[in-house]
Amino acid sequence: MASVIAVFNEKGGVGKTTTLLTLAAGLDLVGRRQNKQWRILVVDADQQVNTTQMLTGRADFGVGKSLSCLYENNLYQADQLAAAITPSLWSANIDVIPGDRSLQEVPSRQVLLPRGDYRLSDVISEIATQYDYVLFDTNPKWDALSVAVFLACQWAVVPVDLRQFAIQGLSYMISTLIQKKREYRHPDFNILGVLITRFNDQLVGMRSDIAVLRRHERLGSLLFSGQIPESIVVDYAQREGVSLFEHSPRSKVALAYARFIGEVLGREVNT
Ligand SMILES: Nc1ncnc2c1ncn2[C@@H]1O[C@H](COP(=O)(O)OP(=O)(O)OP(=O)(O)O)[C@@H](O)[C@H]1O
Ligand SMILES: [Mg+2]
Repeated sequence: MASVIAVFNEKGGVGKTTTLLTLAAGLDLVGRRQNKQWRILVVDADQQVNTTQMLTGRADFGVGKSLSCLYENNLYQADQLAAAITPSLWSANIDVIPGDRSLQEVPSRQVLLPRGDYRLSDVISEIATQYDYVLFDTNPKWDALSVAVFLACQWAVVPVDLRQFAIQGLSYMISTLIQKKREYRHPDFNILGVLITRFNDQLVGMRSDIAVLRRHERLGSLLFSGQIPESIVVDYAQREGVSLFEHSPRSKVALAYARFIGEVLGREVNT
């Protein structure tokens, strides 16, 4: 059965998509190195479709061939969503369920549909039997689609950029996840960790913010041990539509992500 991991943060531009894409590419590399050929499914639950664009080179899948198809009518089946699975350009081991602009209408539809909140988790649990990892990218807003992803996943990774009044926002995000876990009685769900992204040593206060965060009684223990440095390499790789590991495997940022992925694998087994 697959491990299902989602990135969440209501703040925009904190590195959710970058982290998710790099996690997909990194898990693929680890799987290959260990001769396990892990099968990875990336699901783009963000109407901005950045993940879809990066992994497939396209953003025009439309309602029928994207995650949106799940919310089209009263009946739903795993087959319907399985038919939207498309291969990625990055690796034969990485498949994609594309996003679509119409995902922004999901929240208003989901409430009207029978088992609306659970529709995604019902279907993903069937599809997940074909994969080792299912990875969800999400939008920068907590809405009904976020609830659907939350119910479909076991693990949350919360990327955080310390520039953006982050500690208060992070605290709120973690509280939301913990409260939803209780409200929806979803005992299988856990926060895998908080990842500091876009770390820039030269920005005044960033180091002390990290120190505050590491000492924080509720948040400190959730932090992954390393942080992801800010680097122009991320932008270059995205412009070329390739993973950081393909573009600059020895860059500081790729090495920091490799360490993060190692820690994900450790926490996932031990938590
Ligand atoms: N470590 C990094 N160094 C430099 N730039 C970065 C880094 N991580 C992300 N970026 C850049 O920051 C921008 C936002 O990153 P990303 O798209 O991953 O965030 P996001 O949380 O998914 O955003 P959104 O909330 O809009 O979906 C992108 O232009 C990306 O290239
Ligand atoms: Mg994004």
